[in-house]
Amino acid sequence: MRQTPDFDEVINRFGTHSVKWDGMEPIFGVPAADGISMWVADMDFRPPQAVQQALESMLAHGIYGYFGDDAAYHAAIRWWMQNRHGWAVEKDWVFTTHGLVNGTAIAVDAFSAPGDSVVLMTPVYHAFARVIRAAGREVVECPLALVGNRYELDFATWDAQMTGREKMLILSSPHNPGGRVWSVEELRGVAEFCTRHDLVLVSDEIHHDLLMPGQHHTVMALAAPEIAPRLVTLSATTKTFNIAGAHIGNVIIADPGLRARFAARMAALGISPNSFGMAMATAAYSPEGSAWLDALRLYLDGNRQLFDAGVNAIPGLRSMPLEATYLAWVDFSGTGMEVDEFTRRVEKLARIAANHGPSFGRGGESFLRFNLATPRKLVSEAVARLQAAFADLQ
Ligand SMILES: Cc1ncc(COP(=O)(O)O)c(C=O)c1O
Repeated sequence: MRQTPDFDEVINRFGTHSVKWDGMEPIFGVPAADGISMWVADMDFRPPQAVQQALESMLAHGIYGYFGDDAAYHAAIRWWMQNRHGWAVEKDWVFTTHGLVNGTAIAVDAFSAPGDSVVLMTPVYHAFARVIRAAGREVVECPLALVGNRYELDFATWDAQMTGREKMLILSSPHNPGGRVWSVEELRGVAEFCTRHDLVLVSDEIHHDLLMPGQHHTVMALAAPEIAPRLVTLSATTKTFNIAGAHIGNVIIADPGLRARFAARMAALGISPNSFGMAMATAAYSPEGSAWLDALRLYLDGNRQLFDAGVNAIPGLRSMPLEATYLAWVDFSGTGMEVDEFTRRVEKLARIAANHGPSFGRGGESFLRFNLATPRKLVSEAVARLQAAFADLQ
């Protein structure tokens, strides 16, 4: 029986090794007693029932041996990409990694060498820079243009920044943390930029199901089909269905040459899939998962509207309009406060843990990122606390 998801249920996540909640006090100093955790990007909701059932049948069987037959998993991916994104993906194109940070790291390893540079459009998801630098490559930060209250691409400035040492560009599409759904024209611009500078294009589309109502995302492979010889697409069930702990992601490569290079690194590292992740992902990419996702998107939109209305009413604070993701990117520069002061107010007065903007690279300095994928009651409480913490600005 299909059940209507109850996103309003407040589920206590303390004591479950949750980095988001159990990590809140040790990492941010926000008290566990009454803090609100709005940082790392996982949701405080249960996944679709089908995912739960897939795990329950594994538990009932009770044998946890090696995973051998990935046919159902691949059929589910093909079905999802065709149905939700209009993209026909071949089985041979898909590599299963231990999540997409892992997939990104392997791509960096496969398509660049130590000393090479990798281009990021900042501010952007912080783990990109972390894995690039940890692999002994350099990060080239190409700042996004803030036009009004929205990020835009600035190719003229970026063309001038290129030195010839760049080998790869990692795009976040839709964009974390700015929430942009890039238009086909913008995506084509990115593809042309990569061709102009001879870069492998890694299009990280982990957020591509989490669209606000009315928004349409185009996968890079369809926006710019001619980029296929240099395109690597990343996608996953984990962000969409809140199963990030399963650490499973897909690296999708149509080009045989790029695929061979990626396959060689996978083999060298001895990577093979985790059976729990495979079972959960297979169950999630289903008609039931699809219906659950549509309900989730409406709920997230309600949270976004509540949060933006409350936060934008505080003089000096500005929340970027979200076209996708559940991550609100709030600019505090209008307060005239130093980073330490607005962060102190959020953490000590409002008792909210939010991601610090500077960790997302150039352009993130005056921002905090708030995760809105939590029961509405908590979003409402967070807004009230922020209004109180900045009441002197009213
Ligand atoms: C753009 C982007 N890529 C990758 C990830 C993480 O992927 P994984 O959990 O599969 O390593 C995140 C998580 O927030 C993300 O925002």
